[in-house]
Amino acid sequence: MRLLSARLIVSLIVGITLVSLGFSYYEVVGEKRSLRNDLERRAEVLGESVAGNVEKSWEAGSQRGLQRLVQRFGNREHLLGVAVYDRQGKTMAITSELGQLLTTTPPEVTKAMAEGHGESSFVRVGNTPAQIFALPLHRQDQVVGGLAVVHDATYIRAQSLRVWRAAFLRVLVQVFLIVLITLLIVRWSIAGPIARAAQWMRELRTGRISSRQQMPDLDLFRPLAWEVVTLAESLSQARNAAENEARLREASESMWTADRLAVQIQTRLQGSRLFVVSNREPYMHQHNGKLIDVVVPPSGLVSALEPVLNACDGTWIAHGSGDADTEVVDAHDRLRVPPDDPRYTLRRLWLSKEEEEGYYYGFANEGLWPLCHIAHTRPLFRAQDWQHYQDVNRKFTAAVLEEIADTPNPVVLVQDYHFALLPRMIKEKRPDARVAIFWHIPWPNQEAFAICPWQRQLVDGLLGADLIGFHIQSHCNNFLQTVDRTLESRVDWEHFSVLRQSHRTMVRPFPISVDLTDDESVESDRHGVNYLERSTLMHNLGVEAEFMGVGVDRVDYTKGIPERFCAIEQFLEKYPKYQGKFTFVQIGAPSRTHIKRYHDLLAEVEAESERINWRFQTGKWKPIIFLKRQHNHQEIERYYSAADLCLVTSLHDGMNLVAKEFIAARRDERGVLILSQFTGAARELRDALLVNPYNIDQTAEAIRAALEMEPEEKQLRMHRMRRNVKEHNIYRWAGSLITELCELRLDADRDREKFRGNVAVA
Ligand code: G6P
Repeated sequence: MRLLSARLIVSLIVGITLVSLGFSYYEVVGEKRSLRNDLERRAEVLGESVAGNVEKSWEAGSQRGLQRLVQRFGNREHLLGVAVYDRQGKTMAITSELGQLLTTTPPEVTKAMAEGHGESSFVRVGNTPAQIFALPLHRQDQVVGGLAVVHDATYIRAQSLRVWRAAFLRVLVQVFLIVLITLLIVRWSIAGPIARAAQWMRELRTGRISSRQQMPDLDLFRPLAWEVVTLAESLSQARNAAENEARLREASESMWTADRLAVQIQTRLQGSRLFVVSNREPYMHQHNGKLIDVVVPPSGLVSALEPVLNACDGTWIAHGSGDADTEVVDAHDRLRVPPDDPRYTLRRLWLSKEEEEGYYYGFANEGLWPLCHIAHTRPLFRAQDWQHYQDVNRKFTAAVLEEIADTPNPVVLVQDYHFALLPRMIKEKRPDARVAIFWHIPWPNQEAFAICPWQRQLVDGLLGADLIGFHIQSHCNNFLQTVDRTLESRVDWEHFSVLRQSHRTMVRPFPISVDLTDDESVESDRHGVNYLERSTLMHNLGVEAEFMGVGVDRVDYTKGIPERFCAIEQFLEKYPKYQGKFTFVQIGAPSRTHIKRYHDLLAEVEAESERINWRFQTGKWKPIIFLKRQHNHQEIERYYSAADLCLVTSLHDGMNLVAKEFIAARRDERGVLILSQFTGAARELRDALLVNPYNIDQTAEAIRAALEMEPEEKQLRMHRMRRNVKEHNIYRWAGSLITELCELRLDADRDREKFRGNVAVA
């Protein structure tokens, strides 16, 4: 800093001096020029007037008169004197002082007589700087002599010197003041903030403060400071990850994190890329007046895959279903997402209304969805819908082939029941691609699946994949039994694989999960902050209640929402002391409402909540609050972390991520999960209160048990469930799925080897 100041001072002194002197030089030159012009003008006026008088005296022919005349003019300001010469240059009359200085006729006089007009120049007369103005003298139009008016020009020099002196003085003062001001500015606006920033960064680096906290006032450096904050956050994340890794290594555990998944995928892909295909897109753009809103759809699939794509930049191909979706994509229908921190590519694909009607609403959601969920809604299979389903699968295949065109050995993860035909369609064109399909919903037993008139085509399409994933082993078993009964193939029960037309498909369970990796760094709340939060939430909803339960679902008949409401009614009936005290908040995102069954269900859920409220509500309390709209993650998280219990009462569910999200939100290790035994999650979360949602009495009892459970037991159960979810998080799901897929030997590899063998033999 000292060196910088010295350099700055020297540069300022040199710079300001040079600039000021440059200006002073021009000032002096200008001043000199104007003084000279002024003098010349005065000399000319004087010369003309003297010349007139001299010419008159000349006529009189008196030399004495001439001498008297010049003597009369000789005492003007700065005038050295006046001299009159005859045609030969002989002095006719001269003022006495000038007579001592001028010994010869000045050449200006000779020149003026020769050329017949006035001559002026600056010369030295003796040692004195002087200005001579010479004029020809006439008699009867004849030049008869010359006149010299000589001025002393010393004062011009003196004046220039005065200007120079003033300029030096000014430069000195300027340099001093500017250097002083600059040094003060540097100290206040640069050195001070830099010192504060350095101190703050040191504290960040050593982890004494967390990044965004206590950012000092850094003036000009504020933008830089934000960059440093981001850098510090990455550093702190990296440090946490490294610490976690080290801790886990020490404990010989193998916890999956986003970083580990990213590394794992990079290693496994060996320079290739990851492509995900799903019907539902992770971000929808929707018009809101003149604005465009970004909406994250309510979908377990989306919330599970988003962290995976974020961890390893890949491409997600999905149906563009937002009404402003087309307005934000590039010429290839792509955009980078998440919108505020782009990390991967979303490729949108457009469907016509008829296609959406037949493929999505019809075949997928009125046919396959109720077929796979045993929830007593009859599946509807229409030939026209089946046609659309095949067409849309072809359309998605074309988009996938386009995206993977330049990628050798791409890894493609197809998602869900919308795309049973996709694996075979992709593999037919790109046998080098590693293709897995994950079936996010249950696979029913083979008798139930046999209802589908196109079961053979669906199963055959799926068997095009190298790997098929389900949430739990029993879904794998159901699938293998279905294959056994429907297609010509060899099912290997020992290795859980199917060999069909010399292509092998592995079938494995991969229990999907959520991202729970951060609880070490988050301070636990065991001191009642949640209870304050709860009363705020209740207050905002216009209700007063001591206890709160929460349910979060798409309004879908598989979720058992009416059954849940019945259980709440039963609970309040059986335990009236909770009337006026227990309120259940049901967050219900309307879903697939073009389908009559869903439309009716929404009305039914609303009517049920109103009926129960009507029956019990008093004053400012009511038993059920039905929030019929989609809520974002932050909004839901507030309810999760403030609730006494969470009710998941699905009649049938592949996994159910609400259960795991609730656990992930409970950093305080409080709250009780009541979980349907018919969810995939129930296989892992043994510390939940497991219920049969059809058994209303049992669920009502579970609500009471949850509210009356000892805090120690609550904590123990939640602690164990959190450990489980943390170990079996979404990164483990993706990591295991991709690792398994990448480790498979593909038919293409085998064919290559066979080909090489034949050549060798030949
Ligand atoms: C289930 C399915 C997903 C689907 C989600 C939401 O979780 O397995 O594939 O995205 O429901 O349903 P929607 O029809 O709105 O995409």
